Amino acid sequence: MRNFILGIIVTIVVLIVGALAFALLGFVPTSADATPPAWETRIANGALDAAMERHAPRVNNPVPPTDANIIDGMKLYTMNCAVCHGGLDNKPGLLAHSEYPPPPQLILEPLDDPEWHIFYSIRTGVRYSGMPAWNRALNEQDIWKVTAFLSHLDKLSPAVQEYWKRSFGIGPPAEHPKGEHEHDKD
Ligand code: HEC
Repeated sequence: MRNFILGIIVTIVVLIVGALAFALLGFVPTSADATPPAWETRIANGALDAAMERHAPRVNNPVPPTDANIIDGMKLYTMNCAVCHGGLDNKPGLLAHSEYPPPPQLILEPLDDPEWHIFYSIRTGVRYSGMPAWNRALNEQDIWKVTAFLSHLDKLSPAVQEYWKRSFGIGPPAEHPKGEHEHDKD
C-alpha cells in the first residue's frame, strides 16, 4: 500500500516537473498571430460562459436606450473598441487577426447575449485574451451606453441610422445574422 501511494506521488511530481520543463525550455508557443484549434476554443468558451453564469450579476441597463445615449455609445465604441471589434465603416477591426484568441467582430456579427452579460464582459474583461477590463478606463455609465449600443444594433431608430451614415459614409450592415455569433468566428 505504501509503495502504491509513493508511486502515485512520484508520478504526479514527474508530470508537474515535466510540464514546467516543457514550458520553461520554450516549447509552449507564445505568438498571437495563430488561430486557436477548435478544441481549445470550445473548452475556453465553455469555461468563460460558466464563469459568467456564476459571477455576473443579473442587472438591467440603468441607461435608457434613447437616441442620444445610443449615439454616445457609438462614439465610445468607435474610440475604444473598433480597432479590435470592427468599425462603423463595416470593416473588420485593424487587429481582427492579430490576437490569440481573435476578437469577435461585433458590428458584422452582433451579439445576442442579454445586456447584463455584455456589460460584465466589457466591465471585467476576459483574462488570457486581449479583451481589456474597461472598469479601469471608462465609468459605469459609459460602459452601459456602449452596452446599449451593442445590444440595439438591429433596432436602431431612423435618426441614429442617419447619424451613422452621415458620420461614417455608410449605414449599419443591412442584414445582421442574428444568433449566429460565436466566440470563435474571426
Ligand atoms: C485590444 C483588443 C480589444 C479591444 C480594444 C476591445 N476588445 Fe472586446 N474583446 C477582445 C477579445 C480578444 C475578445 C474575445 C475574448 C474571448 O475569446 O473570450 C473580446 C471580447 C469582447 C466581448 C465578449 C464577446 C462575446 O462573444 O461574448 C465583448 C462584449 C467585448 N469584447 C466588447 C468590447 C467593447 C465594448 C470594447 C470597447 C470599450 C472592447 N471590447 C475593446 C479584444 C478587444
